[in-house]
Amino acid sequence: MTVERIVSTWTFGLSANRAGWKVLNKGGSSIDAAEAVCCACELDLEADSVGLGGLPDMNGEVTLDGCVMLGPGQHGAVAALGHCPHAASVARLVMEQSRHSLLVGRGADQFAQQHGHQKKDLLTEEVRERWLEWKRTGGTTIHGTGSGHRAGQLPIDDTIGVLAIDKEGTLAGACTSSGMAYKEPGRVGDSPLIGHGLYVDPQVGAAVATGTGELVMSVCGSFLAVEELRRGQSPEASITTVLERIMKSLHVKPEHQVAMLILLPDGSWSAGAIRDGYVTAEINHTGEKLCRPSLVLLPS
Ligand code: GLY
Repeated sequence: MTVERIVSTWTFGLSANRAGWKVLNKGGSSIDAAEAVCCACELDLEADSVGLGGLPDMNGEVTLDGCVMLGPGQHGAVAALGHCPHAASVARLVMEQSRHSLLVGRGADQFAQQHGHQKKDLLTEEVRERWLEWKRTGGTTIHGTGSGHRAGQLPIDDTIGVLAIDKEGTLAGACTSSGMAYKEPGRVGDSPLIGHGLYVDPQVGAAVATGTGELVMSVCGSFLAVEELRRGQSPEASITTVLERIMKSLHVKPEHQVAMLILLPDGSWSAGAIRDGYVTAEINHTGEKLCRPSLVLLPS
């Protein structure tokens, strides 16, 4: 049975998934496909929460977080990458070409350049104008990430989290994000933290999180989801446990959102969110689509 498929977070996943599907179609691996999806999104200037064109911190500096994972012992991550749009690719280099799991800041940039990535300015002129406008209008903190989930507003995008399965049945995951818009300099979210933004166990399943990283990091969101699967829970029940844990243990504000996406080794998947607005992009041999989550804890 064909299980090959890619699922990724938010609307921008739809076009980014096509880059990954090309890889799977040619017989490529799930990690190659997940990386290709991230690369496409990182170069999409419309995506203001990922890669080039991502919104900066409060000082106007764009810093990127990302990670990749195949399983325990096979993962890599970068945080506060400042001069290369391809956080997921550099994370993969960390996994494959270093003795480490996570590189940050200047060291991450140096590592990227040593491995062939050109030094690049990540702040586009359009985003610089938006940052200046944000400062002119008072520079209030925007909770959530990317454009921020603001209560009462329509869906926006955030971290792209990608889960893929190839024809060998190998699961892989990747995330890439510019993090919370206008964040404190030095802030790192859940996206580069294994077990928080992403966790993959090849025998059990893979989970990614998107939304307000501080909430996900409080409950080890992706690790918790996979551990619930390991205990025999369904994907929906596992996601519900994570989201309810967040709701119970933290002060969740109207502007906060968290969504979780799970892919199982049989190719089936499920998603859930605290609020309306989150969508999953799916591509497989029958086509592509955007899907509403099967569970929303606080529907509007
Ligand atoms: N979920 C991405 C972040 O909080 O940075």
